[in-house]
Amino acid sequence: MKFFVDTAEIADIRELAATGLLDGVTTNPSLIAKSGRKILEVIAEICEVVQGPVSAEVAATEYKQILAEANVLRKIAPNVTVKVPLTPDGLKACYALRQEGTMVNVTLCFSAAQAIFAAKAGASFISPFVGRLDDIGQNGMDLIADIVQIYSNYPDIKTEVLVASVRHPIHLIEAAKIGADVATIPANIIKMLYNHPLTDKGLAAFMKDWAATGQSIV
Ligand code: E4P
Repeated sequence: MKFFVDTAEIADIRELAATGLLDGVTTNPSLIAKSGRKILEVIAEICEVVQGPVSAEVAATEYKQILAEANVLRKIAPNVTVKVPLTPDGLKACYALRQEGTMVNVTLCFSAAQAIFAAKAGASFISPFVGRLDDIGQNGMDLIADIVQIYSNYPDIKTEVLVASVRHPIHLIEAAKIGADVATIPANIIKMLYNHPLTDKGLAAFMKDWAATGQSIV
């Protein structure tokens, strides 16, 4: 399973990239707004730090304008993945961009039918938003299971299932059990994944016992 971080904060991305755990980055207009920075600068900076796919989302909703924005974004670096909304114009743009070899992440997916259409349009990634479905009383992880099962029925589908809107560690574990290809996770949740109270307790005990030996390894 690949791990992407869902942020436009370059400091967080640098820190995570240094761990070797990071396979890519996703951003969206809200995350860019939160960073307070210019999208072209932020994406360029992220692409210098991360070799894997870096999703940069268009802000346009109309086909020609989506393509115009995609054309600017994809020139930033070869690992830019153009992110388009799951709308008729977004999928049409996805198809056109894929014909030209540009990686495309289709975002704001909330149904299996939408995911089938994205695959037909040749999407590199489909982004179902699990947390936002949970928020309205639907089980977001059921959607991941449906999409993974449907895509596995058709080996010619190369679209990767990218679990988005991840809100807690259990989302990640469930997505991995289902066999999703990628999870994009906010930096604070990635940090939570290291934690277990028994690890802290065990380490404290080892350190105490070690100190009592008076030894030093180096
Ligand atoms: C995915 O690409 C989106 O940027 C993101 O996961 C949305 O998450 P949210 O629902 O927490 O805003």
